[in-house]
Order: sequence, then structure tokens, then C-alpha cells
Amino acid sequence: MSDMFELTGKVVVVTGSGRGLGKAIALGVGTAGASVVVCSRTLSEAQATSDEIAAAGSPSLAVQVDTGDRASCESLIAATVDHFGKLDVMVNNAGIDIIEPAEDVTEDAWDQVLNINLKGYFNCSQLAARQMITQGTGGSIVNNSSIAGRVGIAGLSAYAAAKGGVDQLTKVQAVEWAPKGIRVNAFAPGYFENVMSGATEEHRRPEKRSQVLAFTPMGRRGLPDELVGPVVFFASDASSYVTGAVLYVDGGYTAQ
Ligand SMILES: NC(=O)c1ccc[n+]([C@@H]2O[C@H](COP(=O)([O-])OP(=O)(O)OC[C@H]3O[C@@H](n4cnc5c(N)ncnc54)[C@H](O)[C@@H]3O)[C@@H](O)[C@H]2O)c1
Repeated sequence: MSDMFELTGKVVVVTGSGRGLGKAIALGVGTAGASVVVCSRTLSEAQATSDEIAAAGSPSLAVQVDTGDRASCESLIAATVDHFGKLDVMVNNAGIDIIEPAEDVTEDAWDQVLNINLKGYFNCSQLAARQMITQGTGGSIVNNSSIAGRVGIAGLSAYAAAKGGVDQLTKVQAVEWAPKGIRVNAFAPGYFENVMSGATEEHRRPEKRSQVLAFTPMGRRGLPDELVGPVVFFASDASSYVTGAVLYVDGGYTAQ
């Protein structure tokens, strides 16, 4: 039974894994046996996570990447294949958050958010899928979406548009790549203890903090480690007949 969650022998890339939720995911897939490529814009953070994974006994590589830049995504896939010889699982996690009333969002802010949170996911997925198709092995693509892709949360117009796009991208790619053995799924976190760097100001407000707890049926924020199970599920044979799914990991937020 436990074998179906096994990731030993699989090469997993987790974008934005130098800190936050991506770091917890990278450490978690490492514990499940995967060889892990840790990557983010800040190489020192990626290297520190990678060192932790290696110290715990799984092979790991740190790579600097800007997922908002196509050439940088290409270098990430090339470095992965150079080092580990293949790529089995792509976890798209790197993201930014800009909170502003819709009437104040600048074109620049809109472009930044859409470029990293949606186009970056597309670029990494497409490049990973091409590699999986070349290998002829199939694979799994796992997208970190958000409840903001489904429900309206004030201040998140660009972010929510990107995450809604991620949900649809997940479904279209799942349909297109199913015949090639590539599964594409998403998990959509609610509010987690790790607040995104662009949202710290907003989440310092006592009204926001109490609103989050009041709107979450489980009455608490998620712990970063609570994303490991969903990602290992999607990455492993445990989800061999699941594709195009969006799994809400939100303490019941979207069940209401
Ligand atoms: N924290 C939450 O409550 C929450 C809720 C829902 C969804 N999410 C999603 O989880 C993901 C991770 O968020 P987090 O809370 O860990 O945020 P965070 O700000 O703590 O960490 C983001 C990570 O992504 C990296 N990153 C950002 N832009 C990048 C780029 N262009 N190229 C490479 N790396 C880049 C950063 O360096 C950092 O390592 C995001 O996609 C976010 O939308 C978070």
C-alpha cells in the first residue's frame, strides 16, 4: 500500500522552493525519496534548501531561475537533465502577490503578476512536457493554484486572474497530454501560516487575520507541511488515474 506513494528514482523540480510553501514541498518530496531540483531567484536560499534535502539523504541540486523569463526556464530544464539525466515531475509553485484595489492596479503590476504566476507556469509546463515526451516516460505536472482562482477575494484582481488561468491551463494540458502519459493536476491552498511576501502588510491587519479564521471552517491557517501529502499524491502512482483535478487544501474555505 505504501509503495504507491514512493518517489524513489523520480526526479522532481519544485520552482520557488528556496523558502515558504515551495521549501516545505521540496523537503517533503525529498523525504518521499525523490531526487529534488530546488530553484528560485535567490540562489543562496535554493542552495540552503537543497543542502537540507541532501543532508536528510536524498540527492538534490540547487539552480537559480526566474520563471518569468523563458530562457531561464529553458536553462532550468537543461540543468536538471544534465545533472539527473531526466525529469519526471514538475511542480510549478513560484509566485508573487500584489494586493491592491482593482482601480489602482498599474499595468506594470498586472504584467508582473501574470508573467510569473501564469506565463511562468505555462513555460515550465511546456518545457517539462517536451522533455517527458522526448524521454517517452510520461510524467506528472503539479500546479500550485489558490482558492483565489475560484472565489473572489478583494484586492487580488491580477493574482486571481492568474490563478483562475492556472486552473484552466491545468485542465487543457491534462486533456492534451493524457495520451502521452503526462498527468496535470493542481492543488489550491487556502490561507497558510506562511504569508506570501507581497501580502505581509495586509495580513498584519487584525481585521484580516480574524476574517481569515472566521471564513475558514477548520478555524485555523494551514501549515506548510500540510501541502506535502497532496503533492506526493499527485507526483506518485497513488494518483495514476487522476488528471485535470484541482484539489482544494483550504480547511473547508471553498466548501461553503
Ligand atoms: N501562502 C499562502 O497562504 C498561499 C495561499 C494560496 C496559494 N499560495 C501559492 O503558493 C505559492 C508559494 O507561495 P509562498 O506563500 O511560499 O510565497 P513566498 O513569497 O513565501 O515564496 C515564494 C517563492 O517563490 C520564489 N519566486 C517568486 N518569483 C519567482 C520567479 N519569478 N522565479 C523563481 N522563483 C520565484 C521566491 O523566491 C520564493 O522562494 C505561490 O504560487 C502562491 O500563489 C500561497
